[in-house]
Amino acid sequence: RSRRTSVADIKALKGVRPIVSLTAYTAPMAALLDPHVDFLLIGDSLGMVVYGFETTLPVTLDLMIAHGAAVVRGSTTSLVVVDMPFGSYQEGREQAFRSASRVLAETGAQAVKLEGGEEMGETIRFLTERGVPVLGHIGLTPQMVNVYGGYKTQGRNQFQAAKIKADARAVAEAGAFGFVLEGTMEPLARDITAEAPIPVIGIGASPQCDGQILVSEDMLGLYNEFIPRHVKRFADLGAEVSKAAAAYAEEVKARRFPGLEHTFQPKV
Ligand code: KIV
Ligand code: NA
Repeated sequence: RSRRTSVADIKALKGVRPIVSLTAYTAPMAALLDPHVDFLLIGDSLGMVVYGFETTLPVTLDLMIAHGAAVVRGSTTSLVVVDMPFGSYQEGREQAFRSASRVLAETGAQAVKLEGGEEMGETIRFLTERGVPVLGHIGLTPQMVNVYGGYKTQGRNQFQAAKIKADARAVAEAGAFGFVLEGTMEPLARDITAEAPIPVIGIGASPQCDGQILVSEDMLGLYNEFIPRHVKRFADLGAEVSKAAAAYAEEVKARRFPGLEHTFQPKV
């Protein structure tokens, strides 16, 4: 078994080649994606794409830990990063450390991700100085949906742009090993990437980011509730699942499945 990619390895990739990342929530999907990515993220997006919630807010720490452990068991070489869910870190740095240390100890993942810029600087510093590597997440931050009243592209005016730039600086200065930049105007995303001393992982950001991440269910066509502009469909597995289920139903009703070759017969 080869050594897993470390956060130091990820940092060293800035300026060398684009960093590749996808979300994973289960052991079998982690095993399929592992050879192709630098890091796997157990995103709290699982609340929407796996559990059918309308936002990421209902996701609990226990749920993230259960799925994080499954992804660690299913993978061998990728860095594994687990999202801190809503309510598990916003209260303050001690609460954040308590939650994050449970994530690392109970899953075997090597890092956590949390949303927020300047307001999370102190928390990010507290965690990284105590053994918890942190991936930041700024720009469009889905856990703030109730404050913004929707999922809105960020950086559309100079006011917002200045705030996101300040967030990027704060997260880097606090010791994050990188940050996700989501749903941000492209020229601004490009500027932030050029200025940041750490890897910027884009989603709905810029081709010039230091890396890219997508929600696997989105890029595989397994989640069709809403298809944002930033998603490219690399496969249409949803259609494949429908086709397979329809074929199965037809064969069962026609008594064509199971065949005798799928049954257990006494030896004569
Ligand atoms: O929850 C998630 O999947 C994420 C990625 C979109 C970055 O945070
Ligand atoms: Na997330």
